[in-house]
Amino acid sequence: MSKKAQTSVKPGLSMRHVLCLGWKIVILVSLALCVLAFIRIQQYSEPMISPYSTALPRRSRVLADQFTGNPKIAFLFLVRRNMPLDFLWESFFENADKENFSIYIHSEPGFVYDETTTRSSFFYNQQLKNSVKVAWGEANMIEAERLLFEEALQDPANRRFVLLSDSCVPLYNFSYIYNYLVGSPRSFVDSFTDKKDERYNPKMSPVISKRNWRKGSQWVALIRRHAEVVVDDETVFPVFRKFCKRRPPVDPARGKKNLKLQKQHNCIPDEHYVQTLLALNDLESELERRTVTYTSWNQSATKMEHEAWHPFTFSYADSGPQQIKNIKDINHVYYETEFRTEWCSNNSTLVTCFLFARKFSRGAAMRLLSRGIVGNFDVSALLEPPP
Ligand SMILES: *[C@@H]1O[C@H](CO)[C@@H](O)[C@H](O)[C@H]1NC(C)=O
Ligand SMILES: *[C@@H]1O[C@H](CO)[C@@H](O)[C@H](O)[C@H]1NC(C)=O
Ligand SMILES: *[C@@H]1O[C@H](CO)[C@@H](O)[C@H](O)[C@H]1NC(C)=O
Ligand SMILES: *[C@@H]1O[C@H](CO)[C@@H](O)[C@H](O)[C@H]1NC(C)=O
Ligand SMILES: *[C@@H]1O[C@H](CO)[C@@H](O)[C@H](O)[C@H]1NC(C)=O
Repeated sequence: MSKKAQTSVKPGLSMRHVLCLGWKIVILVSLALCVLAFIRIQQYSEPMISPYSTALPRRSRVLADQFTGNPKIAFLFLVRRNMPLDFLWESFFENADKENFSIYIHSEPGFVYDETTTRSSFFYNQQLKNSVKVAWGEANMIEAERLLFEEALQDPANRRFVLLSDSCVPLYNFSYIYNYLVGSPRSFVDSFTDKKDERYNPKMSPVISKRNWRKGSQWVALIRRHAEVVVDDETVFPVFRKFCKRRPPVDPARGKKNLKLQKQHNCIPDEHYVQTLLALNDLESELERRTVTYTSWNQSATKMEHEAWHPFTFSYADSGPQQIKNIKDINHVYYETEFRTEWCSNNSTLVTCFLFARKFSRGAAMRLLSRGIVGNFDVSALLEPPP
């Protein structure tokens, strides 16, 4: 009996408790949501009201707006360690005016460019001191790009900023490339939309809207103002770091976990970051929406996912006069996903599209050098032992 009485009393008591507790929880959760909402508004409102339109640069940087001297091109090399094609670049820079260019290298942390690691004195000590460890396809790749732009912005004479890899070669001599880039008031950024793209993660919203999500080659050439936008960006980069990640490869040891992992958004930050950032800032009218760096994609792999594509590596045999001429003669690019044909121009002058090409082996680069494409051929460069 007493047991029954007890149980009959308990529900009455606990109902009141539960109701009371319920209200407390509702109030607490509401408060917490309010605080969270407030924090989020604080986080996003400032850059959303005036994205980079403020005249003052966020970081201390030489005020270069009044610069009137000789414009320089900053060559920004994003490399693994050393520069395997330094002998070709040596010849390229030898035929330039020293006041017309500067060189910056992002290499492995601690790697120093000196007479023991490169045979071109143009590269001596040009490595960044604050470089980061880069894993291909990870966010630290765009961090490395940003460090290169930031360092190069310190020199007010740098007006164009060209990002290059360790397998890139120039297709012309310096003065041609200089006039082409300096003659254009716009940046060259390969940028397109792709309805089938699955790399956009809805969690990137509201900072990155799907409407502004872009794809394109990492190898860009920027005007100074756009390089500043990249370096000053404090809102888009953290979102990339969090939500644009490469899907890990299938690992048998993980068993069923693989299924979940393979459902994640597969994202390659460097193929989206600069183009998306510039689109978000409404700067696309200031771009030539194409790259100046040629890449050949292995056509036999077209049936596979785009992710499975690999850039073709040019060997000595693939870099004969006709093959190089074919690349240099290209004057338009077709963007399949947008049905857009981009006739190449620097400003309004129709020009051929490509100034640089990748990926070139040492043999292929030697062949370019021996044909005097980038400058006067210097035999002695070939006879010196490699570092
Ligand atoms: C550079 O190349 C261009 C075009 O290929 C050529 O017309 C020009 O004479 C070359 N300039 C030098 C200094 O070699
Ligand atoms: C260096 O810059 C000056 C001024 O812009 C230009 O006249 C000259 O042709 C450039 N030199 C080369 C080798 O491009
Ligand atoms: C680019 O083209 C515009 C319009 O045709 C012209 O006014 C401007 O001077 C050109 N800029 C350069 C750097 O040639
Ligand atoms: C475009 O590049 C070509 C080739 O270097 C150059 O002759 C021309 O002056 C450039 N166009 C403009 C508008 O400067
Ligand atoms: C192109 O891809 C196919 C299949 O993936 C491969 O067998 C072939 O060696 C590749 N060719 C080049 C030149 O990379």
